[in-house]
Amino acid sequence: MLTNDIRQAFIDYFVEHNHEAVPEASLIPLDDPSLLFVNAGMVQFKNFFLGTPAPFKRAVTAQPCLRVGGKHNDLKNVGHTTRHHTLFEMLGNFSFGDYFKEKAIKLAWQFITDRLNIPQDKLWVTIHHEDDESYDIWLNIIGVEAQRIIRCGDKDNFWSMGDTGPCGPCTEIFYDHGPEIDGGLPGTPDADGDRYVEIWNLVFMQFDRQADGSTKPLPVPCVDTGMGIERIAAVMQGVTSNFETDGFRFIMSQTQVKYPCLAENKVTLQVIADHIRSATFIIANGINPGNEGRAYVLRRIIRRALRYGYQSGQKKPFMFSMVSDLVSLLGQAYPILSAEQANIESALKKEEEKFFQTLSQGMQLLNSSIQNTDVISGELAFKLYDTYGFPIDIAEDIANEKGLSIDLDGYAAQMAKQRARSKSASKFAVKQSLPLDKLNKTDFVGAVTLELQSSIEALLKDGQRVDQLQGDGQVVLGSTPFYPEGGGQVGDAGVMHNEQANVNVLDTQKYGDVIVHQVDVKSGQIHLGDEVFCVVDAKRLAVKRHHSATHLLHAALRQILGLGVEQKGSLVDEMKLRFDFTHKAPLTNDEISQIESLVNEKIYAALPVVVEEMSMTDALSAGAIALFSEKYQKNVRVLSMGDFSKELCGGTHVSNTQEIGIFKIVAETGVASGIRRIEAVAGDKAQAWYESQWQLLNALSEKLKITPKDIAKKVNQLLVDNKKLKSAVKEGGQVSLAQVKPVEKKGYALYIAYDTAWQNQDLMAMADQYKQQDNAVVCLFGGDDSKPHPYVLSLNKKGITDHINAKEILKQFQSTLTLKGGGRDDLIRGACQSDGQAILQALETFKESF
Ligand code: SER
Repeated sequence: MLTNDIRQAFIDYFVEHNHEAVPEASLIPLDDPSLLFVNAGMVQFKNFFLGTPAPFKRAVTAQPCLRVGGKHNDLKNVGHTTRHHTLFEMLGNFSFGDYFKEKAIKLAWQFITDRLNIPQDKLWVTIHHEDDESYDIWLNIIGVEAQRIIRCGDKDNFWSMGDTGPCGPCTEIFYDHGPEIDGGLPGTPDADGDRYVEIWNLVFMQFDRQADGSTKPLPVPCVDTGMGIERIAAVMQGVTSNFETDGFRFIMSQTQVKYPCLAENKVTLQVIADHIRSATFIIANGINPGNEGRAYVLRRIIRRALRYGYQSGQKKPFMFSMVSDLVSLLGQAYPILSAEQANIESALKKEEEKFFQTLSQGMQLLNSSIQNTDVISGELAFKLYDTYGFPIDIAEDIANEKGLSIDLDGYAAQMAKQRARSKSASKFAVKQSLPLDKLNKTDFVGAVTLELQSSIEALLKDGQRVDQLQGDGQVVLGSTPFYPEGGGQVGDAGVMHNEQANVNVLDTQKYGDVIVHQVDVKSGQIHLGDEVFCVVDAKRLAVKRHHSATHLLHAALRQILGLGVEQKGSLVDEMKLRFDFTHKAPLTNDEISQIESLVNEKIYAALPVVVEEMSMTDALSAGAIALFSEKYQKNVRVLSMGDFSKELCGGTHVSNTQEIGIFKIVAETGVASGIRRIEAVAGDKAQAWYESQWQLLNALSEKLKITPKDIAKKVNQLLVDNKKLKSAVKEGGQVSLAQVKPVEKKGYALYIAYDTAWQNQDLMAMADQYKQQDNAVVCLFGGDDSKPHPYVLSLNKKGITDHINAKEILKQFQSTLTLKGGGRDDLIRGACQSDGQAILQALETFKESF
């Protein structure tokens, strides 16, 4: 049975048993910051397990899953074993408070033994050691012999999605590949061998694990099962390695044909066959190689494959050319691969070209540095990373291959040093080094007030705690109305004063729980314990508007461009907002206006802005958008604007969207491949923008001596004249812009004329001018009989129909004139051999018969 047939049989079987066939989820978990990539079929249903009502009680899916990074990470093993993958496909059936243990076990057993016809005596099962109910079902209802039911502990038979979230005991079905293969039964020391292979995991979801490690029961018990398609394919195809199944064999054979050098080394082929799959799926889901988070995982996968390829003799980009093979194999099951094929190929090729530039130098450095040593030092690993772009996995792989050890601590120390260096080069140089010990968490009250009397808890000067302060330094207050930079919003500025001193607050930053004000004590002195009156700069009002407008913009982008829009960065200050997000193509003018209108509509709708504290789980089930990079916290602050926007946010906001006033997008640009940037202004800054545009129009209209509304027309005219002059200068002649009087017919304006004085450039200049009119049809001929007559047939694109277009008109003239020429539906130029008399005649006939 081929892999594609197994997938189909699985889905058909569960559909027959009243399961909804649900398409695979994106590999990028939506709104789930606790997870790097979808790592199991159940991820898209997480909220249904946690209690959100599901639209169906039963579901079946085939879900690509990634186990690189995060709790489940297999990268290091991939290529060296028979069944580790970065990406695998998981077949799964799910029950949301419908059937539970007995039915789940029966369904699985029937599929394996009846549909796949796997003999019972090849099968073993494990259960959680405390799960007597499952034991009873296997023994008494299914009829598995007692000695084939093995009890295992939490490590093997308790499944959790991550450190938090749904979890529960599980029962697993194992296949015995036979005594000629090494390996022991589950629960024995040799269990990791290839003889007994887990083929299906049935999880009985019963708990929700909290951040503190405790568990809460789920509202209703659920079922989540997962069968790796690669393993079951190996069983069905009588092979013991997943890499020997039809799918992998196909990819590897295509690779061998294209790149024979790679075939020498089995591990290389396996690494590449695995990595091309994960890289392709990740890029198809909108991630491009980069230096952070998911983008860096992707980069690591690609570069790991390239390094293996390089070692096997492949010195040029090659992965991109294998995408088409994968699409031919999996494109039908996962249409996103076919749809994104071109993007995937180009992203891969770019990354390959980039890495190949430094790969050979890096390899040379590595090879020469490890000649007489058995350790890859931290410095070397770091240099390879920093200068040559080698992810640490590459150094680790090489260390493993050559039997060397690698100083990972030394590497981590170098990385930490580099981070400290880049921090100290940044604006917040002091951030790492402030002595803030024994200070309490600063109370931030600036969401509700911009003025506050507060007491000084600490003073710092030149990195030391001091008792009094003059000039530059830092101040910590008990509570503060000054917002510390965070969530894209700039830190507040303002003033503090009391009877002895006047202080300018230049910036506000957060150091853990402590808020630190960067100050300049302009007059007098401030002392530890002093009371000061704080006033936040009024510019914060503009900052708030921009921050709230950013939330509306984010929601509008997702509504108009789709849920693929993911925030990649934002900056909010009093002058503007800047928002970076994932999206493949530049936005069209139409999309920009739709987004702008939607945001303004929500401003005019005067939506209340409400802040609620809640648990992360509640926030996510309420549909709040959380950034992946947001640190996992038990309780989060959720900011809603009516039903339109709901996001985790710690920043300061208007209390009603109406206060934003007006919103205007002023720029849309690309910042990296697949990432767009919008810059926009709100409130008085938007008004100022409109004012500046208005000034510009007025200045232009004064210059052109025309009203603003006629500027476009006038500029068009000037452009035409300019073109005409330029070509005249180029051809060294005079240009005549004769005014041909149009004849109106059937809604068209026919500019039909012949003049012996007109040369090529005259005809083009006239045609350019006349065809500005939507309904213009232009047929102009020039020149005397001494040589072929230049002509031009031209229409405004808006007037083109099947019958009225330049090619059709040419045909008509060809019935009486000898014409050569070619071009497009809206423009044909050429030369006519017939004489002037014939031309005049033909033009008359054309006019009459039009
Ligand atoms: N979630 C379980 C697993 O990944 C079963 O689908 O093994």
